[in-house]
Amino acid sequence: MITVSHEATAVVSKKKLAADPSTADFSVRIQGKIVKGFVVRRGDRYFAYQNVCQHLPVTLDLNDNSFFNHDKSLLQCQMHGALYEMETGLCVGGPCEGARLRALPLKEQKDQLIVSFPDEVIAEEVFDE
Ligand code: FES
Repeated sequence: MITVSHEATAVVSKKKLAADPSTADFSVRIQGKIVKGFVVRRGDRYFAYQNVCQHLPVTLDLNDNSFFNHDKSLLQCQMHGALYEMETGLCVGGPCEGARLRALPLKEQKDQLIVSFPDEVIAEEVFDE
């Protein structure tokens, strides 16, 4: 689950995303807050999001890296079933339809993905230490 972190970034190995589609969750401690996120792979593309449902402030996977609906066509919150598009983070079904997961900037570097956390994400984070 956890990967290397420093400053306001997390590094996720692409090896954790060998399956298509697949996800890798992570959490990092920044400025006294636990910032949770995940990367989702679809095809040869990768997307990173803050791991907070737009319905209630809980993690989508309830902390066990289970982010998909039954046929792995969408991301699904495990609490009440909100469905989100992998590529956009848009909620397309469930109690927060029309809302969007917060995307995190992601850079590819050889076999690693570097996810960064904008200041507003850190300020808003809901998981205190
Ligand atoms: S908390 Fe995610 S759908 Fe309700």
